[in-house]
Amino acid sequence: MVQRDFTLTNAHLDNETSRRYLHIITWGCQMNVYDSNRMVDLLRPLGYKVTDKAEQADVLILNTCHIRDKATEKVFSELGRLKQIKEYRNQLGNPTLIAVAGCVAQAEGNIILQRAPYVDIVLGPQTYHRLPKMILEVARQSGSIIETDFPVESKFDFLPIPQENTGYSAFLTIQEGCDKFCSFCVVPYTRGAEVSRPVQTILDEATHLCSIGVKEITLLGQNVNAYHGEGPDGNIWNLARLAEKLSSLPELSRIRYTTSHPRDMDDSLINAHRDLPALMPFLHLPVQSGSDRILKAMNRGHTADEYRKIIDKLRKARPDIALSSDFIVGHPGENLKDFEDTMQLIRDVQFSQTFSFKYSPRPGTAAAISMHQVREEEKDARLQALQALLREQQDQFNQNTVGRTIPILFVGKGRKQGQITGKSPYLQAVHIQGDTSLIGRECQVRIDKSLTNSLSGTLV
Ligand code: 5AD
Ligand code: SF4
Repeated sequence: MVQRDFTLTNAHLDNETSRRYLHIITWGCQMNVYDSNRMVDLLRPLGYKVTDKAEQADVLILNTCHIRDKATEKVFSELGRLKQIKEYRNQLGNPTLIAVAGCVAQAEGNIILQRAPYVDIVLGPQTYHRLPKMILEVARQSGSIIETDFPVESKFDFLPIPQENTGYSAFLTIQEGCDKFCSFCVVPYTRGAEVSRPVQTILDEATHLCSIGVKEITLLGQNVNAYHGEGPDGNIWNLARLAEKLSSLPELSRIRYTTSHPRDMDDSLINAHRDLPALMPFLHLPVQSGSDRILKAMNRGHTADEYRKIIDKLRKARPDIALSSDFIVGHPGENLKDFEDTMQLIRDVQFSQTFSFKYSPRPGTAAAISMHQVREEEKDARLQALQALLREQQDQFNQNTVGRTIPILFVGKGRKQGQITGKSPYLQAVHIQGDTSLIGRECQVRIDKSLTNSLSGTLV
């Protein structure tokens, strides 16, 4: 048992620090959302309450993302705004602390402290369990602190179990980091090497989430299907085995996982989609490109046909499975034939919803220094064509659900009066006219209409 020496309580605090507000801004992936929630859990025992008003906050945390585009500039621009808030509050005699967390902090920590000396704490994704200690240190001795090493201890051993019900659908990080080094991607540098949490800690967290009302858990990991955690029996468990165990939790009706890599899509996981009713018929399986040449340049480790074969197997195992993916257009070296291969793969597979991006060079990655960068206008044109096709497929997929009766898990109120909103097994947003007492329940709904980004239906 690892001692939780960073989970401090009020007893460790000076009186004047015992009732405080915390404002947290989260950019990027679902894993950042999970991390932000954990930071809130870590600071709660110190007396911090979350506020959505930055001006009210004693601690401002910016949890950043480095995956694409002008990530660093965006951070400095937001920090400029937070600096004004800090100065304003300081003038009123309210000391305010700014912390930068996440992947930009990891990648650009020293630069942040040089360019924004008013930042008090810089902490990477693997060190945020030390946040309470760092806040106390800053409060006691003025001066900034940076912690962006990859520590030997696992942060998961220091994180308190989630306390508050964050809704009926929760994220649970089971795996982190990546050893695959795709040519375009910063993740192996910002999140570090691939690590899987032990099965028992995941089961404990999932059981607790169920006890506070959660009905749907999305297992998270940069390479979630590469999961290989130590099981209670001393053996290594894969994701299929973990999902099977989780599906035995009686209150848990829905299990999802993201993000997967085609290389790790093994038969046991494909068969789990056939055998486990709780495993939702939806899979986000990024392919990035449909050209073998570009897949090779990207270091993805599979061909377009190998991806098609995985999809065929999945559809045999679970015929109604909805497929999602990520695409990058304009990776260095991509020509019109390569792009056409991607369009063909999309036509062959038929996706239900997707994310697509223009290639953006990331400092320190292999593709960033390639001599064969694609012109910006060319990337724009390809992205437009790709997104038009993907939009058609999404509309078609949604149209195909019209007239069907499917189980919807209601998660909250809708925007319009009397409306509640939920999720289909295929991760579509569904609205109905219905009573708020249905929120948190899964009910059969007949889908009446497909709207731009959602469906509307009637309770049956
Ligand atoms: N440029 C554009 N898109 C990228 N992604 C990752 N790195 C880059 C980059 N340098 C996309 C990939 C990945 C998703 C999370 O972000 O499609 O799957
Ligand atoms: Fe990035 Fe590739 Fe690892 Fe995914 S598999 S996190 S794209 S390096």
